[in-house]
Amino acid sequence: MRYLPIENQLFVQNRQRLLPLLKPKSLVVVNANDIMPTNADGTMVFRQNNDLFYLTGVDQEETRLVLFPEHPDPKFREVLFLRETSELIEIWEGHKLTKAEAEQVTGIPQKQVYWMHQFEQIFGQMVFEAEHIYLNTNEHTRAGVEVETRDARYIDAFRQKYPLHRLERLAPLMHYLRAIKQPQEIPLIQTAIDITDKMFRRLLGFIKPGVWEYEIEAEMMHEFLRNRSRGTAYTPIIASGANACVLHYIDNSQQCQDGDVILLDIGAEYANYNADMTRSVPVNGRFTTRQRAVYDAVLRVMKEATQMLRPGNLWDEYHREVGKVMESELIGLGLLDRTEVANQDPDAPLYKKYFMHGTSHFLGLDVHDVGNKYRKMEAGMVFTVEPGIYIREEKLGIRLENNVLITESGNIDMMANIPLEADEIEAMMN
Ligand code: GLY
Ligand code: MN
Ligand code: MN
Repeated sequence: MRYLPIENQLFVQNRQRLLPLLKPKSLVVVNANDIMPTNADGTMVFRQNNDLFYLTGVDQEETRLVLFPEHPDPKFREVLFLRETSELIEIWEGHKLTKAEAEQVTGIPQKQVYWMHQFEQIFGQMVFEAEHIYLNTNEHTRAGVEVETRDARYIDAFRQKYPLHRLERLAPLMHYLRAIKQPQEIPLIQTAIDITDKMFRRLLGFIKPGVWEYEIEAEMMHEFLRNRSRGTAYTPIIASGANACVLHYIDNSQQCQDGDVILLDIGAEYANYNADMTRSVPVNGRFTTRQRAVYDAVLRVMKEATQMLRPGNLWDEYHREVGKVMESELIGLGLLDRTEVANQDPDAPLYKKYFMHGTSHFLGLDVHDVGNKYRKMEAGMVFTVEPGIYIREEKLGIRLENNVLITESGNIDMMANIPLEADEIEAMMN
């Protein structure tokens, strides 16, 4: 792996934390992701299933974890199945995990690590002892494009073979666990953030009138790759001028013009963990008075919102409060009228014309990480805070986004080192 080895204690502990959430006599199966095809014999870069990674640390295709904590025979309580390697695979694809290496990565004793072709034989000794079978599905409120995952195919296969077993949903339990970051996960997210910081500083010295958005993307990639990142956490948004008002602009194909602001929504990946940062900077190194006014308004909303990310607060209330702060900033900028705001439909607040997305989401192994929005904020949760104001008629879009760790006493801004104040940005660009 490109990233430095992770102590297997994290994965041992994650499996331990799952056990008390299971019903009695439960068996759990979690599958790796597929290597996704492009066209013909082309494939995308492999990206592990985050739940499997969270429970094992194995970053390799064709892997399956089976847990059965109450199996009478201890050797069946944790079992891992791996793709068996061969000389041919070594020559064409390179090294795959040996059983000894798998023990090192996962903390599962190597006598409980098998090759995948042994699955039926081993699983047959486990499955009839179990009363509840937890299988995994991709449960995400925002999941868009769906492909049939290895987990989904496994559910079909399992149902065919064992039609009378009771199936349970693993996903809510994984969401519950993954929402609270373990102490060993924080430095991994912080590394992704620190790489993003280096990248942003590099961009501040590079952006000027006449450069193309894709040239900025190339600079970004250079800095990510030389720091043990596999690249971007998500498709980067490098949006100058009016492009910044297209929320998911990813073409990154335009030339940056003197006098425009450029919105950069870019984060690095590191060891499957993610940073999610947005900065908006003046292409020529100086904000106009109007741009600065909008910038400072967004920054004030961001700071107030960050104050509200603390234990015990509720997601929906937080978003409502941030909406009110944004409302008053938009009135201040002359974009909303105070009387119209006072008479607005509370279910369709007027601020949404200029700030049409949410302020925060969970962050971790997924960029829009799993977690339940009805659960009160708790220490260990990591959120983004990302207000924006998008004024299409002014060809101006400004968003600022930091990543914040909730602590017992409030929160820690994990991006506190990344330049944010307008004066600082201007000084660094000049
Ligand atoms: N970059 C994706 C987001 O900000 O949510
Ligand atoms: Mn973002
Ligand atoms: Mn975000």
